[in-house]
Amino acid sequence: MEDVLILAIETSCDDTSIALVRNGKEVLANKISSQIAIHNQTGGVIPEIASRQHCDNILYVLEEVLKTSGTKLHQIDAVAVTAGPGLVGSLLVGIEVAKTISLLMSKPLIGVHHIKGHIYANYIENDFDFPIVSLVVSGGHTEIVLQTNHYEFKRLYSTSDDAIGECYDKVARILNLEYPGGPIIDRLAKSGQFIEDIKYTYTKNESFTYSGLKSAVINYVNTAKMKDQEVNAADVAFTFQEYAIFQLLDKLVDAINLYNPNQVFLCGGVAANSRLRELVSKQNVAVFYPQMQYCTDNAVMVAAYAYFQYLKNDFSDLNLNANPNLKM
Ligand code: KG4
Ligand code: ZN
Repeated sequence: MEDVLILAIETSCDDTSIALVRNGKEVLANKISSQIAIHNQTGGVIPEIASRQHCDNILYVLEEVLKTSGTKLHQIDAVAVTAGPGLVGSLLVGIEVAKTISLLMSKPLIGVHHIKGHIYANYIENDFDFPIVSLVVSGGHTEIVLQTNHYEFKRLYSTSDDAIGECYDKVARILNLEYPGGPIIDRLAKSGQFIEDIKYTYTKNESFTYSGLKSAVINYVNTAKMKDQEVNAADVAFTFQEYAIFQLLDKLVDAINLYNPNQVFLCGGVAANSRLRELVSKQNVAVFYPQMQYCTDNAVMVAAYAYFQYLKNDFSDLNLNANPNLKM
């Protein structure tokens, strides 16, 4: 089969990322301009600021990718871009650049679903052996997805309120920790102990739910502050994390028992979590996760799934628009 060289763009949230990938696996260049330092000042992403940053950065990132890989735009076979879900203003920046390249270079345009991208971050280092169950856990998503081939995705579970990563970030914020809070809570929790006074009961239902847990933690911290009691951040981190990860594991184990997958993938920023990895690795199933740089948002994962869309001639036209609620 002929080689397929895809230029991919990902701007769904706060990272401006562009990558050049051959056959969905071979990474020729991968550049990310992170906005973490900017969003750290506000304790989270402000959409308007994120899209302005994308506008400022995207052409530099593109130039870097072409320069470091020694590639000219006419050499690519297609240009792929995240079309959703995500922040509409952020998505639009990537989409407009992708459309311009497609039009100027007469190359096919491929609109990619962000979650499919997160799942296909695993394709960089592994071949797929279906059925596959993927746990997609990030700042914007908490989902379990079943796949029986490259083109059919069945969402088994999603969240009825907050995403798990968002909840990590909010708990970090109330503890006066930096953004993003996930990695800091993960680290702190290692030296923490369980706090009985964080009142939370997990009730099993059809969806993930994180707002009740978030409120329980916030209430505990606020009450302690009001009474001038010391808040032990490590203990709060430990307790929060045990509840947060337990829920993931509970539903993941249900999915494994129901669908008997050959592979389980952990995807998205929260897949970096050490407690999650520890507990999932104890299950009797082959578990995979991408390298850290491909867990968080990146354009390589977009190129990886775009490769399969390319093979199916699943192209978009120039009417491609940002869709914050894009369905799988
Ligand atoms: O996939 P990602 O880069 O962006 C979205 O698509 O949302 O995920 C970012 C999220 C943040 O909420 C961050 O706090 C969380 O992933 N995260 C973690 C860890 N590393 C990153 N959460 C828990 N434990 C970690 N080690
Ligand atoms: Zn993401």
